Amino acid sequence: MKTVGIFYGSTSGTTKTAAEKIAKAFGKDAELHNIREATTSMIASYTNLIFGTSAWGIGDMQDDWEDFVDNLSEIDFTGKKIALFGLGDQEEYPESFVDGLGTLYCRLPEKDGVVGFWPTEGYKFYFSLAEKDGQFVGLPIDDHQQPELTDKRVKEWVAQLKKEFV
Ligand SMILES: Cc1cc2nc3c(=O)[nH]c(=O)nc-3n(C[C@H](O)[C@H](O)[C@H](O)COP(=O)(O)O)c2cc1C
Repeated sequence: MKTVGIFYGSTSGTTKTAAEKIAKAFGKDAELHNIREATTSMIASYTNLIFGTSAWGIGDMQDDWEDFVDNLSEIDFTGKKIALFGLGDQEEYPESFVDGLGTLYCRLPEKDGVVGFWPTEGYKFYFSLAEKDGQFVGLPIDDHQQPELTDKRVKEWVAQLKKEFV
């Protein structure tokens, strides 16, 4: 498997912590970056990519991802694999649970290479922009309501990605 580039945006630190756990699960195969300090050429240099954002209201990604997302259209995603994860709070925001994850997926200029889809079982919410065809477009992590499930979810998701990445 080629090196995995992980790019996260985090306001109060939970997405950063989740990104660190994901990087640790990949071991030496992953490199971690804050999207605030990222460039398009950094992203373009990876074949395997993970993007992570938290949710800040109806449809909003984390601020640094909001600032960066238009630059994705400058990158040629042909042949790349992209996995997404999103932080959120299903009890406080059940009508927009992990919407940032869904918006990031929508804003990807090329979706053919998206991997890492995840079942909706185990989460309680009314609506999420991240739900598509009965599954999530990436891994939702809820460190507010289900912190005890995060490590298990990360472990299983990374095992899935190791099969789906190239
Ligand atoms: C003002 C505000 C709005 C939020 N809106 C949502 C939301 O619509 N959906 C959701 O799932 N979580 C929402 N959250 C929860 C955050 O996504 C959650 O706290 C996340 O862990 C923050 O991650 P970060 O500190 O890494 O940016 C919101 C939190 C705040 C404070």
